[in-house]
Amino acid sequence: MTSPSASLLEVRGLTRRFGARTVFEHVSFALARGEIVSLVGPSGCGKSTLLRAIAGLDARTDGSVLLERQPQRGPSDRIGMIFQEPRLLPWLSVANNIAFAAGSRRGNDPRVDALVAEVGLPGIGDALPKQLSGGMAQRVALARGLFAEPDLLLLDEPFSAVDAITRARLQRVLLALTQAHGTTALLIRHDLDEALHLSDRVLVLSPAGDDRPSRIARDIRIDATRPRDLRDPAMNALRDTLLEGIAITAV
Ligand SMILES: Nc1ncnc2c1ncn2[C@@H]1O[C@H](COP(=O)(O)OP(=O)(O)O)[C@@H](O)[C@H]1O
Ligand SMILES: [Mg+2]
Repeated sequence: MTSPSASLLEVRGLTRRFGARTVFEHVSFALARGEIVSLVGPSGCGKSTLLRAIAGLDARTDGSVLLERQPQRGPSDRIGMIFQEPRLLPWLSVANNIAFAAGSRRGNDPRVDALVAEVGLPGIGDALPKQLSGGMAQRVALARGLFAEPDLLLLDEPFSAVDAITRARLQRVLLALTQAHGTTALLIRHDLDEALHLSDRVLVLSPAGDDRPSRIARDIRIDATRPRDLRDPAMNALRDTLLEGIAITAV
């Protein structure tokens, strides 16, 4: 039995080299079950590479990834991944896309109907991806990410390709979904205010100087209750701390 306080995910000493270049080194952190954690950092610091390593999609990363203390080797349906683009298969209906992990034509699974309603698109199951707006397609991608009922959802800048209003809506949908399903989420974001708005914790991945490997430069807990007022002095202080963590490289 696992105690309720045990970490869901433990990342231990992850290091990734591409030839002579070390992108990140000795990256370690843990996520508690149910936590929503944002990962921020300058462009090119290795966020996407790190997320792929956690998802088991990159066998060439050194270190270990443990899910409830079990070392992970390769992809697992307990870890779902959502990308910046919806990556729907154009020839499959929305329903068949959502249920794709169960087989290519499993869209009649009753859980699909429940999920399309949860992401705010009831009745859309028979539509084809080309009939959807960008925001709708990303909602479908969220539903597909949750279909296998993963313990952990990894999201790589999931809403940065949609307009600001759609993005705000999608953030709310994501929060409601993770709460309803008890899913833990690790999200890469490029907008610090969005990270502050919607996370229990923010991790900053940043290199310690030019051509130096990235490491976790800050790990900040945000205790403020939601909805949060980003103009609050406490939020300003947190934003400054994040910026310091990111900017170490830039100066
Ligand atoms: N397959 C690859 N081969 C060589 N270098 C790579 C490869 N994938 C990523 N990189 C390098 O690793 C660094 C981090 O990339 P990435 O993880 O995409 O950064 P981020 O998501 O933080 O913008 C970049 O400098 C990129 O050029
Ligand atoms: Mg990236």
